Amino acid sequence: MSRIVILTGAGISRESGLETFRDEGGIWSRVRLEDVCTPQGFARDPTLVDNFYNQRRRELQTAHPNPAHEALAALENAYHPSEDDAFLLVTQNIDDLHERAGSRNVLHMHGELKRLRCSTCGITFHWEKDCHPETCCPACDQPTLRPDVVWFGEMPLHMERILSAIARCDLFVAIGTSATVYPAAGFVEQASGHAHTVELNLVPSGNAVLFNEAAYGTATQIVPRFVQNLLQEGHVHE
Ligand code: APR
Repeated sequence: MSRIVILTGAGISRESGLETFRDEGGIWSRVRLEDVCTPQGFARDPTLVDNFYNQRRRELQTAHPNPAHEALAALENAYHPSEDDAFLLVTQNIDDLHERAGSRNVLHMHGELKRLRCSTCGITFHWEKDCHPETCCPACDQPTLRPDVVWFGEMPLHMERILSAIARCDLFVAIGTSATVYPAAGFVEQASGHAHTVELNLVPSGNAVLFNEAAYGTATQIVPRFVQNLLQEGHVHE
């Protein structure tokens, strides 16, 4: 395999103690996504939305990368791509566990929990504490900050770079995602014509039939095994 694109979802962080969205008891079973994950929800009640992300930011302080995150970092390290995005990790997750495991070429298509964005001057910046409607922007001093995450109805980030990498990849692997949210759920179809496609998940996703290969189980079990096989078979080379 000379060019690899990996897509991850909430399932890869589940064993680090972070909740998924659509599993039983998941986030959307307790909170209405319309209230906390849309621009309209934020306009209606910014305190509710800030507190939703403040709680998740606090949970992330005590979460750590798990062996699945670490296996992907090891795969990237073992594979020295000569060109940009020859190894690309695209995540729907807003946690920083991939980076903390050592992954380097990571794109957060739904934004990042540890960043804020100012709606007045547009800057985005690293932020680890709580944020409130009265918190002021460090650049323009206006109280117009919001989580730097992509809400439903907003454009996901880095799409041109992601689609270009998928169009040229030999291997596309989707890990820990229910394949219910587009455009991420459509990536496997964009890869299917020319790449070998693999699903690694707890249970078959809605897209399972579209993949050439699949392994089901917990991410900390199946991802390290998949990476080990890939490295042993010598498939990963420049
Ligand atoms: N190991 C592997 N997979 C797991 C595990 C685990 N331990 N636990 C759960 N899963 C799987 C579930 O079977 C499910 O298919 O992870 C998937 C999680 O699906 P979702 O909760 O829908 O999360 P995700 O696919 O990342 O959601 C996509 O939806 O709400 C938006 O912006 C949010 O980025 C998110 C997007």
